[in-house]
Order: sequence, then structure tokens, then C-alpha cells
Amino acid sequence: MYLDWDEKYSVGDDGIDQQHKELFKIINNLDDAIRNAQGKSAIHQILNEMNGYIAWHFNEEETYMKENDYPELNAHRVAHQTFVDETADAIKKLEFGFELGLALVTRKFLGEWIKKHVLVEDQKYKSYIQNKQQ
Ligand SMILES: [Fe+2]
Ligand SMILES: [Fe+2]
Repeated sequence: MYLDWDEKYSVGDDGIDQQHKELFKIINNLDDAIRNAQGKSAIHQILNEMNGYIAWHFNEEETYMKENDYPELNAHRVAHQTFVDETADAIKKLEFGFELGLALVTRKFLGEWIKKHVLVEDQKYKSYIQNKQQ
């Protein structure tokens, strides 16, 4: 199922919203690749693209939180790192035993995590930063 952008995902910063939109797009590309039964290399190419983009986005987001003195930065950083590690494990598993069913499980894990993280964890810095600016 596609991840469709909606205002409820906004964190109040255009740059970061744009990055989240791009992440959604990559997840949707992965969805298409699985649905069209594209092969291992096409799917891994998207996963690697996603991996690189996520690392860059997390870094940008952590810098943004730091600049705004967000007090929960460390906990947020741990959540990001845990996801990076889990994603690396999932990709490795798929690398060694590729099958579309497992690709779908991986896609679901990635999509659900990202959706929930943006809706719950990322929203916390949004309210903190907005309250501060008032
Ligand atoms: Fe984020
Ligand atoms: Fe985050």
C-alpha cells in the first residue's frame, strides 16, 4: 500500500517535510518494484538508495534538532540508529535469501516504521520547537 503524504505528517519545517516526502516516494518505488516482480538487483538498488537517503536525512534532522536545543535529541538519535541497524539486517537477510515474499515483509517493516516515526517521534520536536518560537 502506498504511503501518501498528508498534512498530518508535517513537522513544520519545509526542508524536512520535503525529505520525508522523498522517503515516502522511495518506499512507494519499492512497492512498485515488488508488485511488478522486478528481480533481486532492481529491488536491492532501491533498498540501497533508501539506505543512503535515510542516513543523510537522519543526519540533517539531528542537526536541526541540535540547532533548536531539542532536549530529547539523544533518545531520538538512538531510535534512528536502531532503525539503521535493523534495516541493515533486513537488507542482508534479503541479500542472502532473496524472495519476493521476504521483500514484501521488508517493505512493510520499513514503511510502517517510517510512517509511525514521522507521526509520533518527529512530531515531538515539532511541538517543542513551535512552543519555543512563540
Ligand atoms: Fe524524520
Ligand atoms: Fe526522526
